[in-house]
Amino acid sequence: MFEQHSISGTFATSKHIVVYPGDCLGLLKRIPDESMQLIVTSPPYNIGKEYEKRLKLRTYLEQQAAVIKECVRTLSARGSICWQVGNYVGKSSIIPLDTVLYPIFSDLGLKMRNRIVWHFEHGLHCSKRFSGRYETIIWFTKSDDYLFNLDPVRVPQKYPGKKYFKGPNAGKYSCNPLGKNPGDVWVIPNVKSNHVEKTEHPCQFPVELIERLVLSMTNEDDWVLDPFLGSGTSILAAIRHGRRGAGAETVGKYVELACKRIKEEQAGTLRTRPMNRPVYDPNESGNRLTAPPWPSKPDEGETSLFGKGLGKEYSGAK
Ligand SMILES: C[S@@+](CC[C@H](N)C(=O)[O-])C[C@H]1O[C@@H](n2cnc3c(N)ncnc32)[C@H](O)[C@@H]1O
Repeated sequence: MFEQHSISGTFATSKHIVVYPGDCLGLLKRIPDESMQLIVTSPPYNIGKEYEKRLKLRTYLEQQAAVIKECVRTLSARGSICWQVGNYVGKSSIIPLDTVLYPIFSDLGLKMRNRIVWHFEHGLHCSKRFSGRYETIIWFTKSDDYLFNLDPVRVPQKYPGKKYFKGPNAGKYSCNPLGKNPGDVWVIPNVKSNHVEKTEHPCQFPVELIERLVLSMTNEDDWVLDPFLGSGTSILAAIRHGRRGAGAETVGKYVELACKRIKEEQAGTLRTRPMNRPVYDPNESGNRLTAPPWPSKPDEGETSLFGKGLGKEYSGAK
């Protein structure tokens, strides 16, 4: 158990937890150069959510560039920036935000380390394109000498009992007993209505997603900063592992929510999905809803599933 600290509304390096109620540029300007070890965030996607005003893409990117520039100033020489984004949806087409944000980071001299694909299984059902089931985390560092702790985030191998069958190590286990590198495709459930972490915030990070970044890119007592804090998830993941956490949030009810969740985390009452728990498989669990109520093969003469009006009951497509 780590020492419990109070939540401060203003930044000072002597603090441990900072929830700044206001614009992230206001918080960033109080943060000294090169003092943050990990900056991780999911910015507004400019898609008209309740907490954002839809802007011309160019204006949105200019605003993002101003925040990113300040983040880079505050990032430590061995630090990491992880920007988690999905798609901007234009009139008739989508623009993956990582593709248009990438030049902002590279023009500031940052080096990309991974483009992590975060795959999840729930979301809107599209009718004119394939439904979106992944977003990305683009990870950049300031230098080649960056902090990366792989051991705390290793995951079990598929075949841990595999042995070398020839050579000097014949008969010995061939894989690392601590597990394998989790790779750059992460299958982690997103926070939808059945998720144990769901709050009123419409686009929360699952805590386990950020825990993996915190454990691999920071050491204890390092600072983790989230300029677009939302419901406070990045700070939760930071303090859970003995790091310091800071973030800014403009919407009052989310500031309150973040503080409430931080206090619950400190009291040990915050319910979260544990890291590395396998994704629930309704078939394996014998959920009876996995059996289709219609015949598995079309009746003679019926050429399509929806041919006899079955589709009329279905209202999921958007
Ligand atoms: C995509 S959400 C982040 C959700 C967060 N990852 C979580 O786990 O809850 C973006 C958040 O940024 C906030 N926001 C938008 N503009 C902001 C700004 N200029 N400064 C600080 N927060 C801002 C929004 O109110 C929203 O809660």
